[in-house]
Amino acid sequence: MEWRVPLADVKLGIEEENAVLEVLRSGWLTMGAVTQAFEQELAAFVGAKHAFAVNNATAALHLAYLAVGLGEGDEVIVPSLTFVATANAVRYTGAKVVFADIESEDWLCICPDAIEEKITERTRAIVVMHYAGFACDMPAIMRIAEKHHLAVIEDAAHAIGASLDGKALGTWGDVGCYSFFGNKNMTTAEGGMLVTNDDQLAEKVRILRSHGMTTLTWDRHQGHASTYDVIDLGYNYRIDEIRSAIGREQLKKLPAGNARRGELVALYRELLAERTPQIQIPFEAERGLSSYHIMPVLLPESSQKEAVRASMKVQGIQTSWHYPPAHTFSIYGSGAASEEGRLAITDLAAKREITLPLYPTMREEQVEWVVDAIRDAL
Ligand SMILES: Cc1ncc(COP(=O)(O)O)c(C=O)c1O
Repeated sequence: MEWRVPLADVKLGIEEENAVLEVLRSGWLTMGAVTQAFEQELAAFVGAKHAFAVNNATAALHLAYLAVGLGEGDEVIVPSLTFVATANAVRYTGAKVVFADIESEDWLCICPDAIEEKITERTRAIVVMHYAGFACDMPAIMRIAEKHHLAVIEDAAHAIGASLDGKALGTWGDVGCYSFFGNKNMTTAEGGMLVTNDDQLAEKVRILRSHGMTTLTWDRHQGHASTYDVIDLGYNYRIDEIRSAIGREQLKKLPAGNARRGELVALYRELLAERTPQIQIPFEAERGLSSYHIMPVLLPESSQKEAVRASMKVQGIQTSWHYPPAHTFSIYGSGAASEEGRLAITDLAAKREITLPLYPTMREEQVEWVVDAIRDAL
């Protein structure tokens, strides 16, 4: 479908094209020197000691959960208002997902008090997701984790380039995971990155990312090793040089892209407040620097969300829903998991939320079109 305003729009440039061509002509396509450079540049950008490029953020989350030692019998506290991969990857390890509510309809991130209420003697970890690139209350969450000796994993899929108190989101907890999927603030088509400051966790991730092997094809190509042992049950979660080459160029463009997103969000706020005051716009408070990954708004409780979205579609405006809460999906036992008000704020916010278009090359006139379309739809 031809949208007047799509939800997201990815524009790669001549820089990415040239970087890919260079890899194609180099004769080395699988994980090697370009990936190492990408990892070093991203580690420096977020201020982490170690970074591991992987084939997607779901793999990064799986590795993170394995590295902190999750398994059968463990409980992990996870937001429900997230993409389902945050929770599913917990289940890959055999651990049990325990959902916790969000802070409020003004701040759609997991709530420290709700986390503390869900802690039992089997709890091993807390997973946070920085919704839209806005920070969870990390100082409070880290205090809870310390008090109860829990690992903290940050799903920072939305949050590359975002920070709180000057510290990058993704580097507050034990492990952070970024996504470079095709609609993210920076993309490698499919791809992800895991960061950590912990040497032992890093070593586990290094081994698990590539079949549990002690050396890589790249090491052997360089003559640094001639054989290998397999010391753990690992996976093939490697990225390749083509994607890493795109990622290096995308990383250079990220700060300007995020800043432009921020300007467009400010314009949205101004126009929505003026023309549709009945709409609630979360994340108004000052809390760190966002990456402005998406533009969520909450419709009035009485509105018919799908009718609003359909009316906007007729006007050529694409919208989305972030997210159908994970606890309502069949594999999480929908009905029962709705738990009658136990995730009350998540349920309410999710029912009201729609996501408006946002991307760095969006024109100001397009923001006006979106605002007018939502006003007319309401
Ligand atoms: C919050 C969140 N977590 C995890 C993921 C999974 O990322 P990937 O598609 O790179 O596996 C996504 C991607 O859409 C996401 O938005």
